[in-house]
Amino acid sequence: MKTEEINALREAPIGVFDSGVGGLTVVREIMRQIPNEKIVYFGDTARVPYGNKSKETVTRYSRQIVRFLQTKQVKAIVVACNTASAFALDEIEKEIDIPIIGVVRPGAKVAAEATRNGRVGVIGTAGTVGSNIYSTYIKQIKPNAEVTSKACPLFVPLVEEGLWQDPVTDEIAMRYLSELIDIGIDTLILGCTHYPLIRSTVGRIMGEHVTLVNPAYETARELKELLMEKGLFNPIPPQLGTNKYQFFVSDGADRFMQFANSIIKYGILSTKIINIEEF
Ligand code: DGL
Repeated sequence: MKTEEINALREAPIGVFDSGVGGLTVVREIMRQIPNEKIVYFGDTARVPYGNKSKETVTRYSRQIVRFLQTKQVKAIVVACNTASAFALDEIEKEIDIPIIGVVRPGAKVAAEATRNGRVGVIGTAGTVGSNIYSTYIKQIKPNAEVTSKACPLFVPLVEEGLWQDPVTDEIAMRYLSELIDIGIDTLILGCTHYPLIRSTVGRIMGEHVTLVNPAYETARELKELLMEKGLFNPIPPQLGTNKYQFFVSDGADRFMQFANSIIKYGILSTKIINIEEF
């Protein structure tokens, strides 16, 4: 490959997708940890939530999104949604010729390394919990681990309503988490895109002795390693005036931007709506 071709590949964006706004917690980590990388984000706001849909549906949606992202010449794809990582990643990985990573494996790996008593908790959507995927990956690394998973479906709407620090969220978190406290877990995976935003509530209820694992952070770290390994890491910041971060959704661009600007420090000035069913 010629130098210009290698440079063009390195400067290509990373495609990131999620069922909606939650994947922005992953985008935020990518922006922090590998700030030279351009990002094309797609949030499937018309079809959210994925957490209570079937594997077939989530896989079909994810395939359409991957096709859309490939039209943007992305050099790698991050499945920022835990449910889509659980249901669709294995199949899609076989179908495309660019690197693709999800959020589950990086989170599981760190949790397996972090636990001292071998008791790990996982919280996520009904889909992620039902797939048992975190447990499968953790046990590949630590076969004796005892993994207890708990679906916490109300956390997603609470976060989207902005109730990050609120007595209602405390009350619900207490009910969801009491079982994990009783079991004596020492490590808890925040296995849903939204949960890092209520990390302090969860941390307070679980207690200081419980290590919280944020798959968004671990995924950005793994992405950096992957880009380096494949020679795709961009060492130079994009020129001023380039469209470094692009956002696309399937509905509700204004609401998306409002949420995005509440968690990402770069002012997000525009978000385009696309018809994802066309892909
Ligand atoms: N993004 C989803 C996840 O991480 C949560 C929201 C949804 O159910 O679509 O599993």
